[in-house]
Amino acid sequence: MNITLRQLKVFERVAHRLSFTRAAEELFLTQPAVSMQIKQFEETVGLPLFERLGKKIYLTRAGDELYRLSKTISQQLEEAEQLIEELKGTDGGKLAVSVASTVHYFAIRLLADFVRRYPKVKVSFKVTNRRGLLQQLDDNEADIVLMGQPPQELDLVAEPFMDNPLVVIAPGAHPLARTKSISPAQLKHETFLMREQGSGTRSSVERFFSEHGFNISGSMEMNTNTAIKQGVEVGLGLGVVSLHTVERELEDGRLVVLDVESFPIMRKWFMVYRDGKRLSVVAKAFEEFVRAEAKRYVSSAGPQ
Ligand code: PGA
Repeated sequence: MNITLRQLKVFERVAHRLSFTRAAEELFLTQPAVSMQIKQFEETVGLPLFERLGKKIYLTRAGDELYRLSKTISQQLEEAEQLIEELKGTDGGKLAVSVASTVHYFAIRLLADFVRRYPKVKVSFKVTNRRGLLQQLDDNEADIVLMGQPPQELDLVAEPFMDNPLVVIAPGAHPLARTKSISPAQLKHETFLMREQGSGTRSSVERFFSEHGFNISGSMEMNTNTAIKQGVEVGLGLGVVSLHTVERELEDGRLVVLDVESFPIMRKWFMVYRDGKRLSVVAKAFEEFVRAEAKRYVSSAGPQ
């Protein structure tokens, strides 16, 4: 069989997603380009690899066998790549870091200093929410992920490296801005600006609200911390965000942290990678850097 690595890669993505459209998106290709690659691949193999039933596609028996094989080949290629990276050491090499949208406020400065220390390293830096990060770990797209605590049932190595306090924020001129020990019940009628489904911050806040009998149906949804901060600033409502995302606004008085009982909700930041993943020399250097330096990038790291 005269198949190319490119065909194999496209096939693997389509087989993994069982969708030409999603595979095309992930590979930055058009859908017709993906269909063409698959068609050529099937011609080379001499058997259909997918079958269409209604709107869905499924792997045929041959497709299933080849999918298993293509995963082994990709893994071996990745190992070969790792080996080359190892030979390059920190003098070159690549590092793929993905971080929670909430982490990027300090992670970008941390990364800048890491790159200053290892200027030859090529870095890919992706920012997404918790759900997106778990997907990336599943797809083996990142060397190291910085995020909230991952689910324990997944095969991941997760090391806490810093506290992540969630606080209630309000505009500087809010009537409760100077009140001490506000009870959560006093906030029941406030509108809250909530992060999108899939955000780790949102799940923690939802848990807190349901424990305190809040009905959050009156809340407003926004998909970035920046939108929440700005929304709170212009008086749309209150927000619950990581203290690490609002340090500047607190400093210049645009926002205040309300003194609400049971707050901060104390979470932790974790450094995460897939169990069994062989970290390259660069990834190990980054891991060490985060362990030693991360706390310097926030003014409120708290004890470990
Ligand atoms: P997120 O980050 O709210 O941006 O998803 C926090 C987390 O990973 O828990």
